[in-house]
Amino acid sequence: MEITIKPVEKIAGQVKVPGDKSISHRALLFSALIEGTIEIEGLLAADDTRATLNCLKELGVEFAADGEKLTVKGRGLRGFEEPDNVLDAGNSGTTARLLAGLLAGQPFYSTLTGDGSLRRRPMKRVTEPLRQMGASISGRHNSEHLPLSIRGYDLLPISYTLPVPSAQVKSALLIAALYSRGTSEIKDPYNTRDHTERALRYLGAEIKKAGRSFIILKSPAKLKGERFRIPGDISAAAPFIVAATLAPRGELYLENVGINPTRTGMLDVLAQMGAGISILNEREDNCEPVADLLVRGGFKLKGVEISGEMIPRVIDEIPLLAVAALFAQGETVIKGASELRVKESDRLSSISNELQKMGALIKELPDGLAISGGARLSGARCESRGDHRIAMALATAALFAGSESVIGGAEAVAASFPGFFTVLNGIAS
Ligand code: S3P
Repeated sequence: MEITIKPVEKIAGQVKVPGDKSISHRALLFSALIEGTIEIEGLLAADDTRATLNCLKELGVEFAADGEKLTVKGRGLRGFEEPDNVLDAGNSGTTARLLAGLLAGQPFYSTLTGDGSLRRRPMKRVTEPLRQMGASISGRHNSEHLPLSIRGYDLLPISYTLPVPSAQVKSALLIAALYSRGTSEIKDPYNTRDHTERALRYLGAEIKKAGRSFIILKSPAKLKGERFRIPGDISAAAPFIVAATLAPRGELYLENVGINPTRTGMLDVLAQMGAGISILNEREDNCEPVADLLVRGGFKLKGVEISGEMIPRVIDEIPLLAVAALFAQGETVIKGASELRVKESDRLSSISNELQKMGALIKELPDGLAISGGARLSGARCESRGDHRIAMALATAALFAGSESVIGGAEAVAASFPGFFTVLNGIAS
């Protein structure tokens, strides 16, 4: 599907972004693990979360939708059924990696696969430590790539330091640790998103932090909870936040956005660049911090360096921050972001090559990007490369080009935000 984007002058109005994708995956998975019935409110309805839901159905979990609410009949930690078909994670790395952690603890055989993009993404980061815990896992290319076949056992606890900054790996191991007898310790020196830890704590698991990065989990007998309420996704809000910042005029109000500090790096970076963003009505809901955001346009931005500890906090927003940097004064350099090469597409290559088609001065570095600000973009034909975040970043850039642009492969947005272009249309003029 192709989408034509016309240049705009003003971004204004009020939007409610869909439920947080990371938290939605976890809410589905942990609901399946509890004993009894639990309600989920604000679940993201998109291809990625549908993949998690369908895999859980294959494992015998029952779901009932009622308007905005989804009721889940949990099977308890040990009540899953052996699936009689291959589990398909689609385009979703979170589904594949978190599910691998769950399947590693089940006393049955399962096979896990995904679409062409996911079958190219690295899995050894989960298969290796899960094997150390005692699971029997094999997959293509020495267990680096899907499809994986998994046969679980009673697992051993693990002491493990994440070798890569990945919340998906951390979460897979914490889920597997629920199936070990004893205490597991996982060190996350990168401080990646902590939604799994928060959800487990909410469900009564004995999980705590020692110091800044040591997570200690004692395997529980059972998990209990009544309701997951999922805040709006800051990563889905991000294109609108950048668009409202770059627009010469307008004010955009975003309601009920998750502001977990492991996810809000883009707000800090944009503030440092000079953007006008206010965080209003801060509150805590279901163990996650939430707020409303007010974004004003017309501010002059300046280039910054984005590196080090900031990278995990902005990991999914880097293509959009690159777009913002194009319109800032001076250079922006992004370093230490080589993880972007193993996302839904190689995002360093995708964003630099596609933005160059609009005339942007952006250079790919081995582990980041160098962007010259002050650009005048011209409308162009660009490609999403099958990557939802690239499609949204290109659409955001196209709003401020000198003429109309066409984004090919725009249907990719369905992975995380099916209504993206409708919402964008409603606020752009
Ligand atoms: C996610 C973790 C991050 C992020 C992805 C969602 C999660 O991936 O990029 O969009 O829900 O845990 P990694 O764990 O591969 O860094």
